[in-house]
Amino acid sequence: MEAGDARLGQRFGRHVHWGYWDPPGIDPDQAWDGFAEAAEALSLRLLHQARIRDRERVLDVGCGLGGTIACLNAGWQGLALTGVNLDSRQIEVARRSVEPRADNSLAWVVADACALPLPAASQDVVLAVECIFHFPARERFLAEVRRVLRPGGRLVLSDFVPVQPLAWLLRLLAAGRSAQVFNRTYGPVDCSWDCRRYAREARRHGLRLVGNDDITLNTLPTYGVVARLFEAMDLPSAVADTALIERLSRWRWLRYRILRFDLEE
Ligand SMILES: C[S@@+](CC[C@H](N)C(=O)[O-])C[C@H]1O[C@@H](n2cnc3c(N)ncnc32)[C@H](O)[C@@H]1O
Repeated sequence: MEAGDARLGQRFGRHVHWGYWDPPGIDPDQAWDGFAEAAEALSLRLLHQARIRDRERVLDVGCGLGGTIACLNAGWQGLALTGVNLDSRQIEVARRSVEPRADNSLAWVVADACALPLPAASQDVVLAVECIFHFPARERFLAEVRRVLRPGGRLVLSDFVPVQPLAWLLRLLAAGRSAQVFNRTYGPVDCSWDCRRYAREARRHGLRLVGNDDITLNTLPTYGVVARLFEAMDLPSAVADTALIERLSRWRWLRYRILRFDLEE
């Protein structure tokens, strides 16, 4: 498993998320060779949607190994950057691998995204890249976002968002015996929020859904890369779970979206 973890690390680089290819129609070997750049491209697309400006205060929750913070640190100046993650080992890797430059400051915090140890109105932007489906309660996370953002601040996240009737089916599964779905390979995951629920719950927390970027097609080459890794690690159940998510994505039942919300002034 350790050798497999190393292979996973080499392929994903400093990001722990899907890749973005434009155009998306490339052959599997190209996707394999270019995966780290594609993962970087996904972060950059999300940062573009977040309209980051120099000198802003940016919080990245579920920051993983610090890949998105590293992108921000490389491309902007005077940023006050904070990375939060539940797992102290990932925070340690991030702390060791990103050196602040261009008048940027970096802070790394071990914490739950649903209970942020940060002052009220202390951030201009909150980012959550491919992690919200792990959080124990999205409503609590949205309440925390409302608290830590300044009025007019932005929340930008990426997520696997189902269309109906898949959202309904996933909610039914969650209410039944299996409280979590897809959790055999990817840990506890809840992918049951569709766009309407996002908009409704966000509104309850003073956040308005203002950007909705469906990049499902651009992420599809990821599945071949991930399946190949799991095959090399001899994890047939992980290959099967990944194939299911790929099928749902190719059928367009599960969409990879970048969502942007603005907090009311
Ligand atoms: C798929 S990874 C994405 C990591 C990073 N955002 C990236 O894009 O490279 C999901 C991350 O969410 C973190 N995570 C899961 N639950 C969390 C929680 N409740 N609070 C903070 N981080 C959490 C995991 O430790 C993991 O690093």
